[in-house]
Amino acid sequence: MTTCKLVMPGDMNHYGFLFGGKMLMWVDEVAWLSVSEDYPTLHFVTVGMSEVKFKKSVHPKSVLRFETRRQATGRTSVTYHVDVFCRQIESRDEEIVFSTDITFVCVDNNGVKTPIKP
Ligand SMILES: CC(C)(COP(=O)(O)OP(=O)(O)OC[C@H]1O[C@@H](n2cnc3c(N)ncnc32)[C@H](O)[C@@H]1OP(=O)(O)O)[C@@H](O)C(=O)NCCC(=O)NCCS
Repeated sequence: MTTCKLVMPGDMNHYGFLFGGKMLMWVDEVAWLSVSEDYPTLHFVTVGMSEVKFKKSVHPKSVLRFETRRQATGRTSVTYHVDVFCRQIESRDEEIVFSTDITFVCVDNNGVKTPIKP
C-alpha cells in the first residue's frame, strides 16, 4: 500500500524539522490501515517496531511517501515492512528517511490476543 503525506509547519520540532513522534504516529497509522485492509473483520493492536532510526531530517513542505508491505504472518501476529521516502514538493528526487518492521497482534473484543483466522 502507498500513502503520501505533506509535511506541514505544525509537524516540526523546535529546531524546525520533523518531530520524530509524528513520523512514528504516521508509520503506525499507515501500517494499521494495511492490516485492517488485509483482515477487514479482525481487530489489531500494535505490539512493536523492529528499529527506530531517523536516517535524515525532514523539512517543512516535504512530501513523504509510505510504502507498506506484509512481511510475515504468525499465529496471532502480522508484521509489515514500512519504508518512508521523502522529496521536496518541487522535485521528483526521493531519498529514504525511515524504515522499520511493525508488528500487530490480533485481539478479541476484550483486547486479549487471539489467533488470526484465514
Ligand atoms: C499486544 C498484546 C495483546 C500481546 O499480548 P502478549 O501476551 O504480550 O503477547 P505475546 O508475547 O504472546 O506475543 C503475541 C505475538 O506477538 C509477537 N510479538 C510480541 N512482542 C513482539 C515484538 N516486540 N515485536 C514483534 N513481535 C512481537 C509474538 O511473537 C507473538 O506472535 P505469534 O503469536 O504470531 O507467534 C499485549 O501485549 C497488549 O495488549 N499490548 C498493548 C497493545 C497496545 O495498546 N498497543 C497500542 C500502542 S500503546
